[in-house]
This record gives sequence, structure tokens and C-alpha cells, in this order.
Amino acid sequence: MGFLLLLCFSFTISLSSGADTISANQSLSGNQTIISKGENFELGFFRAGNSSNYYIGIWYKKAYSNPPTIVWVANRETPISDIFISELKFVNGNLVLFNEYKVPIWSTNITTTSLNSVIAVLLDDGNLVLRDGSKSVEPVWQSFDHPVHTWLPGAKLAYDNRTKKSQLLTSWRSNEDPGVGLFSLELIPSTKEYISKWNGSQQYWTSGSWNGQIFSIVPEMRLTYIYNFSFITNENESYFTYSVYNPSVISRFVMDVSGQVQQLTWLEATKQWNLFWSQPKTQCQVYAFCGAFGACRQTGLPFCKCLTGFKPKSENDWNQSLFSSGCVRITDLECGNNKEISFVAVEVAKVPPNSVSVAVGSGGECRTNCLNNCRCNAYSFEDNRCLVWDVELLDLSEDNVNGATIYIKVASKDLPPQLHEKNILGAVIGSVAGVAFVLGLILFVIYRKKRISDGKTTMEGSLVSFVYRDLQIATKNFSEKLGGGGFGSVFKGVLRDSSVVAVKKLESISQGDKQFRSEVSTIGTIQHVNLVRLCGFCAQGSSKLLVYDYMPNGSLDSHLFHEKQDNLLNWKTRYGIALGIARGLVYLHEKCRDCIIHCDIKPENILLDADFCPKLADFGLAKLVDRDFSRVLTTFRGTKGYLAPEWLSGVPVTAKADVFSYGMMLFELVYGKRNAEQSDESKSRFFPSLVANVLMVGGDILSLLDNRLNREASVEQVTKICKVACWCIQDEEDSRPSMNLVEQILEGVVDVNMPPVPRSVTLFLDNTEPIVFFTEPSSSNSSGDDSQSKSASSSG
Ligand SMILES: *[C@@H]1O[C@H](CO)[C@@H](O)[C@H](O)[C@H]1NC(C)=O
Ligand SMILES: *[C@@H]1O[C@H](CO)[C@@H](O)[C@H](O)[C@H]1NC(C)=O
Ligand SMILES: *[C@@H]1O[C@H](CO)[C@@H](O)[C@H](O)[C@H]1NC(C)=O
Ligand SMILES: *[C@@H]1O[C@H](CO)[C@@H](O)[C@H](O)[C@H]1NC(C)=O
Ligand SMILES: *[C@@H]1O[C@H](CO)[C@@H](O)[C@H](O)[C@H]1NC(C)=O
Ligand SMILES: *[C@@H]1O[C@H](CO)[C@@H](O)[C@H](O)[C@H]1NC(C)=O
Ligand SMILES: *[C@@H]1O[C@H](CO)[C@@H](O)[C@H](O)[C@H]1NC(C)=O
Ligand SMILES: *[C@@H]1O[C@H](CO)[C@@H](O)[C@H](O)[C@H]1NC(C)=O
Ligand SMILES: *[C@@H]1O[C@H](CO)[C@@H](O)[C@H](O)[C@H]1NC(C)=O
Repeated sequence: MGFLLLLCFSFTISLSSGADTISANQSLSGNQTIISKGENFELGFFRAGNSSNYYIGIWYKKAYSNPPTIVWVANRETPISDIFISELKFVNGNLVLFNEYKVPIWSTNITTTSLNSVIAVLLDDGNLVLRDGSKSVEPVWQSFDHPVHTWLPGAKLAYDNRTKKSQLLTSWRSNEDPGVGLFSLELIPSTKEYISKWNGSQQYWTSGSWNGQIFSIVPEMRLTYIYNFSFITNENESYFTYSVYNPSVISRFVMDVSGQVQQLTWLEATKQWNLFWSQPKTQCQVYAFCGAFGACRQTGLPFCKCLTGFKPKSENDWNQSLFSSGCVRITDLECGNNKEISFVAVEVAKVPPNSVSVAVGSGGECRTNCLNNCRCNAYSFEDNRCLVWDVELLDLSEDNVNGATIYIKVASKDLPPQLHEKNILGAVIGSVAGVAFVLGLILFVIYRKKRISDGKTTMEGSLVSFVYRDLQIATKNFSEKLGGGGFGSVFKGVLRDSSVVAVKKLESISQGDKQFRSEVSTIGTIQHVNLVRLCGFCAQGSSKLLVYDYMPNGSLDSHLFHEKQDNLLNWKTRYGIALGIARGLVYLHEKCRDCIIHCDIKPENILLDADFCPKLADFGLAKLVDRDFSRVLTTFRGTKGYLAPEWLSGVPVTAKADVFSYGMMLFELVYGKRNAEQSDESKSRFFPSLVANVLMVGGDILSLLDNRLNREASVEQVTKICKVACWCIQDEEDSRPSMNLVEQILEGVVDVNMPPVPRSVTLFLDNTEPIVFFTEPSSSNSSGDDSQSKSASSSG
């Protein structure tokens, strides 16, 4: 008893004073903590979410958020409930956690320490180490060797060559439960790559192999100064470790409960973690994220829904956004009672795994096969192949454009009325869609009532379907032209309710009415503050028109390329435009259901609203025109200065083509003239090569600025934009940043490296061959040659 009292006395003194150490004669309990010397990290009991479970963990003290950001958990599978009775203390040289019943529930579990000289120290890198005072400084145990879900700088994630086992970074089970979740990250030493797995088996992501500088799937790494990764291998183990170049940057990798590996950076200004990067890019690429019979959809929250006729297996889990427990049938199927069984069609991105192939010749036989097999859950019949699933359906991702159709067995009475088998082709997934349908119907009815006096104009989804004659009147027979482009001319119009609109008359649309309506209604669902809103359309025979919100400040080119002082954009506005357009493009490239490549980024397509908020116009239109882009190209006018080289080389064009055009536009935002425009001082020159030069030699960056601005701009911002622009116009698509990364750089979350000189620019300087995006397809190359010699001399 006396011994216990002594213990109590000793730890209250030493641990409450912010010590970084637990000694052999001390224990930690209640709200006591230890704090690393530089006060970066703190160790103690914490509560996970709103649950009543407590754990011993380490969290950031300096980068403090509420609730604290946990980086390591000791007893992740064995929570305690009373922190004032539980204690963490040394027993025979091991750090042991005793719960409220004095039962040991976690231990460092090492066998080779002397009894009393061992101490536990929390270091400033977040590592808890056990040191045997009498022996070497090498720790006898360290938390870095037992990773949970966070990989901190200085720690490693290794493959042990003696046990042939990988260390795993494993997700928490949910935000309220740090137990081992389904998703893990591990190293494959032979290929030097990290992979993500579901439930220890199914791989769903790889970093690509390490080439000495970057992981091949993550080319963004080259652009930024943040991390210094190194690969180390010896006879015992192989691993990567990393450090942060700038010691003041606080950063971490986590295997998130979403199954995505995330890289986060602390923003002191807002006291928040900023998501810098996450892989796989979209939630629905995470294997089986929605569990059995759950369908993932990339648009809208929550990501998961149960299939029609199914409900969450655990409502409690689903309420916590923990979807992996999946769904079950609302009504169990009664084997043999085929009258009560229906099949519901679901459009999925790809058929789920673990199917069995059945040799039958028709969809009907395939269906009968599944119907008569009590264990069969679903079938599909495509390309004359019948597949059936006797297992739970996993990894379903909603996609009603490009996917496959599978037919799921459900109890007939669980189908909403409009989904009975007659209607099967119109089937949609889940009850949420059902609600949306009803809502849409109500809106439709209301709208119809309001519009009844017009007699003609109707709603289609969120879009107004106009009658040609109405638009003809609104635009005074297409008399006030606002602009033109690759897809047709734009006219100002005033509708009957006196709202002002921009009406685009499309040319060279090869699609039929039905396909056109379907594409247009897709475009109509795309809404973002930096995208011009489509409000309606007209499709009558060969007349195809689109109706957009009117933008009172016109297009960017009218401000940039005109000498007038009164509509000059100051630097702050220009920077805002660069950032806004980056955000609009991130939305198109990554946040929509299908990735949309704009294909025609240029100042003409950037419109400014009354507050000079930039809005991207004409997105989604490339889809309306012929899929044969070479034909589209010839109809693009005034776009040559923005085309990525791959447009002309014939390889499939990706979102990185937009990045290229965006980069070209950034140069013009700085310069205030067309990149390739002839100017007084040099007969004609190529501005990007000038920028590359000034950056390379560390010259006067403001000398590049539009002279009308009189050097009134932030050097830091101009430098940043110039660097980003050079990265964007790299020849290799992989070297160009994603728009997401561009956005983060412009927001100041991420620093940007010095770019390599773009090859197109180098070619230009070397005076070897004309660069593709600068030559007029039909005319001779003479002007190109001129400008090359000129800029070469100006750079010398
Ligand atoms: C606890 O142990 C440390 C060394 O491990 C020693 O310096 C200290 O005096 C001890 N305290 C008590 C109260 O025994
Ligand atoms: C720690 O717990 C004790 C006892 O419940 C309480 O008096 C004290 O205020 C707590 N300290 C902090 C910092 O919460
Ligand atoms: C926890 O509970 C508080 C209040 O009871 C509530 O405001 C908060 O949203 C809850 N947090 C979570 C993650 O459920
Ligand atoms: C400690 O190791 C033993 C066997 O080596 C194992 O059975 C036990 O689960 C381990 N305990 C902890 C808390 O890791
Ligand atoms: C994960 O795999 C184990 C077998 O390795 C299996 O028993 C378990 O059901 C799987 N979990 C899920 C959610 O499918
Ligand atoms: C990157 O890390 C390695 C290994 O820790 C080190 O040798 C190298 O100097 C670091 N590079 C830079 C530029 O800091
Ligand atoms: C791993 O260990 C084996 C022997 O167990 C050895 O042959 C091999 O070279 C080791 N691998 C590395 C990368 O050192
Ligand atoms: C590998 O492990 C053995 C035994 O633990 C040790 O003696 C040796 O130094 C280790 N090799 C390296 C390169 O760390
Ligand atoms: C889940 O959330 C819904 C709506 O918020 C609520 O009605 C239901 O009771 C919750 N279920 C459980 C088990 O928490």
C-alpha cells in the first residue's frame, strides 16, 4: 500500500510538468500527458469521436486542431472506458496499458530489457521510443516500427526480408473507431512501389514503381519541393523513408477511412489540414467501398446507396458513413417461390468480380438459370455471354453511360411501382434516385403551371427547352452578336421575363435530336461558380441553340488585348482569374461524373461577370461535335496558340491538353498581349521563351509584366504564375501538373519548383524546327523562323 502511494506521489509531480519521459517508476493516467521537447507532439488518453471509448495515442500539439489529429494509437483494438482508473506504466521493462479492471490490454512486448533502467521518451518527430539507459542509444522499441494509419516524416514503411512480411499502414475502421479497417498500404520491394489493398487481398491502387525521383503514377511529385523520398534496402529490410525539405512545413501521409491515401499539409493561417493529394483520385475507385450490394456514385453525397430492393445491413454504420458492411435485401427471397421474384436492371461501370460463366444462348435462358438457382443473386447477358453471381455483389459503381447492365434478384414487393419489370430499362439505382424523381416531377408540374401562358417553352430536367421562334424574338433575329468561336456565334437576347441571356447558335452539329438532348442535359447538370451556367437549349431540326447566363463584363480577351486604359485588369483581378479558371477546370476534370476535357481554353472562352468573377464558357461542347477531332481542329479559329502538341500528333487527348492551353493563357494574363503577337520593340517574339529565360537566369520578373500595369504587382505572385505556366506547357503530358495541383499552388498551399525549360520553347530558341503550336496550318513557316532568330538573339 505504501508502495502504491509513493508511486502516485512520484508521477503526479513529474508527469504534470510537461515532461517528455515516462520512467520505470512512473505511470500515466487520467488526463496526464507527456509532451515532446519541442512541443510538437503529445501522448495521452484520447476519445475517438463521440464514442465512449478511450485509447492511448499520440497527437499533434503544435498543429493543434479540435479534436486533435491522432498520428498513432497503442491499443487500437482494445479500448478502455475509464481513464482515471486505467494506467500506462512499466512492468518488467515493458510499457503496459492496464484497463479499469487492472487487466493488461496492450504491451510493447519486448523480451530483452533490463528491469529498471528503461525509459519511454516522446520525440519531436512523433516517435515514442523505449531506451535501455544502461545500453546503447538504439531504441529497444519504437512506435515508428508499429505504424497505425499515419506515416510521418522520418518514419519508414518497410518490407521485412527476414519474416517476408510488409509493414502495413491500415485505415481506421471509422472516424470513431481506430481499430484495423479494411484498407491498407504496403511496399512491394521488387518493383519499389506502394500498393493499396482491400481486406488484405484485393489490390485497387498502385503508386507505380520508383524511378529514383518519383513514383511513376504520381508525376506531381516532381513539381513540388515538399518531400525528399529515399529508398533503402539491405539484407534485413527494404523501405522508403521521407523528409520534408522545409522544416517549418508540417505534413503527413494517411491511409484514410475512405480507402484513399492522403497527403495533408498544415495551414497555420487557418489552423486546418489541407488535402494536398489523394489516391486513388475518386472515391468510387476504392474497391468495394460501399460493401456488398451497395453502389458507389461519384456525384453527390453520400457516395454510397443500397441497390433498389436493399437496405443497409447496419443503419448505425451507415449513419457514421461506414459503408463497408454493405446492404441486405429488404425482404429475404423465398426459395422456389419464383412468382415473388423480380430482376432489377442496374447500369454499372464494370461487372462485379467473382462471377460464374454459364453456357446458354440467350438473355432469357440466362435469366431463367438465375431464377431457378436459389443462390443466384444476379445475372448479366452481354456479347452473348451469360454471367451469374452466386456470391455477394461487390465493387459496384454507378455508370449509366459507358457501363454494363446487370440484373439483380429482389423481392417483387420491394420494387417501387415505376420499377416493375415492364419498365425495367428505365430502372435507376436506389431510393435516393426515387426521391429525386418525385421532386423533379413536382418541380416539373410547378414549372408547367408557371409557363402555361407561354404555351411553348417547357422544362427538361433543370433546363428550359426553348422554341426557335422565341429565341429569334429574344435576340431580335440574331442581330446583336457578342462573339464567335469554333462551335458557332453568340448573340445577346432578352427573354420575356426580361432576363438577359447569351444565345449560342451551334454549327456543324452532327447529332440527332435525341443524342443532342441527352448530351445537353448532361452539360446542364454541371454547375460551378467558375463555369458559365447553361439555362436552356433549342433543338428543332437542324437548328441547335444553347442559352446561357449573360456575362456583363464580356470575355477576357477584350480586356487583355485592347489598349484602352479604362477596362484594364489590375494584377489582383488577373491572379483571381487564374485561380478561378483553375478551379473551374478542376471541377470539369475531376469532380464531374465523367471527366470533361474542355478542349478550347483561351481568353475568348473566359467570361467575366459583374464582379469580374471568371467563368469558363463552352465546356462540354467538344462532345457535341464530331468525335473526329481532326475535323474539329480545322474549325477552331484563333486557337493555334493554345493547342497542346499531342493534338497534332494524333495520340488520344487527355485533360493535360487543357493544362497546356491554360498555361498558354497564363502567359497572356501576365503579358497582356498574345504570346505570339507582333510587338513594336521586337518584330515578333514568343513570350513563353522570354519567361523561361528570365526564370532561368533569375532576372527581373516584373519586366515581363504588361507595361500598362507599371510594375504594380506582387513579385512572388508573378514568379509563381510564370513557373506554373512553364510547367503547364511541358511537352510531356506527364510532366504537366494536374489542374488540382495548379489550384493548390496558386492558393499558396504548395510551393512550386523551378520548371525545366519547355522543349517547345527550347526548339524555338535553338532555331532548329518550327514548333507545332505556333505554325499556321496553311501558311508558310517564314514568320516562325523570323521570330526564332529574334528571340534567340534577345535571349543571348
Ligand atoms: C524514478 O526513476 C528515475 C530514474 O529512472 C530517478 O531519477 C528518480 O529519482 C526516481 N524517482 C523515484 C520517486 O523513485
Ligand atoms: C485533470 O483532471 C483533474 C481531476 O479530474 C481535474 O481536476 C483537472 O482540471 C484536469 N486537468 C485538465 C487540464 O483537464
Ligand atoms: C458529437 O456530439 C456533439 C454534441 O453532442 C455534436 O455536435 C457533434 O457533431 C458530434 N460529432 C460527431 C462526429 O458525431
Ligand atoms: C505479445 O506477444 C505474445 C506472444 O509473443 C502475443 O501472444 C501477445 O498477443 C502479444 N501482446 C501484445 C499486446 O501485443
Ligand atoms: C475479409 O477477408 C476475410 C478472410 O480473409 C473474410 O472472412 C471477411 O469476411 C472479409 N471481409 C469482408 C468485409 O468481406
Ligand atoms: C534527401 O535525403 C537523403 C537521405 O536522407 C539525403 O542524403 C539527401 O541529402 C537529402 N536531399 C536533400 C536535397 O536534402
Ligand atoms: C533477402 O534475404 C535473402 C536471404 O534470406 C537474400 O538472399 C536476399 O538477397 C535478401 N534481399 C535483399 C534485398 O537483401
Ligand atoms: C541485419 O540484422 C542483423 C541481426 O539483427 C544485424 O546484425 C545486422 O547488422 C543487420 N544488417 C543491417 C544492414 O542492418
Ligand atoms: C440513422 O439516421 C437516421 C436519420 O438521421 C435516423 O432516423 C435513424 O434512427 C438512425 N439510425 C441509427 C441506428 O442510428
